[in-house]
Amino acid sequence: MRRKLAAGNWKMNGTRASLDELRLLAGAHPAACDMLICPPATLIAAAAGVAGAGPVLIGGQDCHAAASGAHTGDISAAQLADAGASHVILGHSERRADHGEGDAQVRAKAEAARAAGLTAIVCVGETEAERDAGATLAVIGRQLAGSVPDGATGTDTVIAYEPVWAIGSGRTPTLAQIAEVHDFLRASLRTRFGAAADGIRLLYGGSVKPANAAEIFAVSNVDGALVGGASLRAADFGQIVAALSAA
Ligand code: PGA
Repeated sequence: MRRKLAAGNWKMNGTRASLDELRLLAGAHPAACDMLICPPATLIAAAAGVAGAGPVLIGGQDCHAAASGAHTGDISAAQLADAGASHVILGHSERRADHGEGDAQVRAKAEAARAAGLTAIVCVGETEAERDAGATLAVIGRQLAGSVPDGATGTDTVIAYEPVWAIGSGRTPTLAQIAEVHDFLRASLRTRFGAAADGIRLLYGGSVKPANAAEIFAVSNVDGALVGGASLRAADFGQIVAALSAA
């Protein structure tokens, strides 16, 4: 049985004042799902302090593939772990687009995350042009094969399906489209990893909000969500957590 996961991605939003939202979330009634907030790197240590031993886990939004060295401005997986992170988002479409990250690089980062004891949330997803061209499953299959390291398990790996055109747009795929991709992801992981695939959680991401969370969480093979905009306020994210807890 996979425990559900509600993950928030604050992206490049938030200063120390934003930790008040985390305080509200951490003080709420414990949820029947895992909760994760990935603040900007500047806030990880402080966020981990606020979260303490409570129900909210803290994650990073990226890491470097190397363990240490001359990489100005980058952060290693071990440094994230040292700051109090248990997870790291890797291969988000904004990293792929803004920083030219490819599947091999994402995979190397995921291996570094595993070596540091972090769980990698590996993101995959098609652009609108790719969906219009009927290439959605081919693109996602290629990203999955290229970005996820050998030997992945539910302990070190979570997969997030985030259609690029649904991120921050207010648009979401139909429930049938989400089901098609999530069923495909599960089948692909089983082919590659056998029984271990059944422990790997599959998150949907892209314009998840309180109003659509419950219907998305009812879709087959959706084990939670990766939430951007609606994770910035505890009131919104708390409603998404409640919907997932009830699913
Ligand atoms: P959104 O972002 O919820 O604001 O669409 C999701 C994401 O990019 O993880």
